[in-house]
Amino acid sequence: MDDRAQAKDTAGRFRTRVFSGIQPSGGLTLGNYLGALRRFVQKQDEGIETVYCLVDLHAITVWQDPARLRANTREAAAAFLAAGIDPGRSILFNQSQVSAHAELGWVFNCVARMGWLGRMTQFKEKAGKDREAASVGLFAYPSLMAADILAYHATHVPVGEDQKQHLELTRDIAIKFNHDFGVDFFPVVEPVIEGAATRVMSLRDGTRKMSKSDPSDMSRINLADDAEAIAQKIRKARTDPEPLPDSLAALDGRPEARNLVNIYAALADTTPEAVLAEFAGQGFGSFKPRLADLAVSVLAPIGVRMTEYLRDPAEIDRLLGAGADRAEAIARPILAQTFDILGMVRSRRG
Ligand code: TYM
Repeated sequence: MDDRAQAKDTAGRFRTRVFSGIQPSGGLTLGNYLGALRRFVQKQDEGIETVYCLVDLHAITVWQDPARLRANTREAAAAFLAAGIDPGRSILFNQSQVSAHAELGWVFNCVARMGWLGRMTQFKEKAGKDREAASVGLFAYPSLMAADILAYHATHVPVGEDQKQHLELTRDIAIKFNHDFGVDFFPVVEPVIEGAATRVMSLRDGTRKMSKSDPSDMSRINLADDAEAIAQKIRKARTDPEPLPDSLAALDGRPEARNLVNIYAALADTTPEAVLAEFAGQGFGSFKPRLADLAVSVLAPIGVRMTEYLRDPAEIDRLLGAGADRAEAIARPILAQTFDILGMVRSRRG
């Protein structure tokens, strides 16, 4: 067995391993960057073992045009590389290439309960009023997500706030599996939801999450946007006429102001309190240009590097393929042990 698959240390504790994923269902946004990708890079740079996945099987729970899915997957890979993911240190791959995800996802469909999945707010939001028309995959989505994580015996999962409920379900699945079979096989994962921007809101409406799927492009900053587009979107972001206050509590009821302060703090690697200490008493006429400069200085170079990576799609595919080989070496033995625990006969030895 590949020793990387051995996720427990000599004391029998699960070794720290980070796993996270992003759907290649559209271009990545500032929300994906601040809530997830930037923090993926930090975990890698802390020297922790990190496994990152472009979850194309999750993307098809809603309709995807095949040519767009292919392009979005390569673009998302370019965004990871441009943001600082080093394929020598992190494992980076696309989910469909490692079949253990789908196989363990099926096992977890048999562990998770209908009632658990029916309570998921993301399903309710995405399915909307016409639940009968939603795909079965959209309903079962969280068991595949649990499989993504647990196929690596990952212990820590950095995500934005909106994924918290799915991670609680992942914990429930691990606990139920371990309990039902009398084993201590799957780790009970820790959600890692930290930083100033765990929920980046739309630039047009501070009560709605910034999202790849919002029909208005002005509502979000895309990682592929150039400097001019980034600055223009911040200049036009909705705000209120009041100056910035000197305390966070005074931002209650001012969702747009709160959002821009959080974005500034996350981009500057500081806290919202420190941002208010600097800008208290100033209006958006002076705050927005400073935020635009900061956003352009952090994001525009990422967009430029993405374009460079995208010039060579064959190289992106090669890197993803090499990542998938490494991912498979960890996940395959864990899946085989899962099948043993379940009582599947190993009829094809060797
Ligand atoms: P997805 O593709 O919607 O988003 C990817 C990551 O970006 C975060 N995020 C945000 N963070 C802050 N503000 C926002 N506006 C914002 N929008 C998105 C998400 O919280 C997420 O961390 N189900 C997951 C993908 C997934 C996954 C996994 C994640 C599949 N398997 C296993 C972790 C582990 C999803 O749809 O993320």
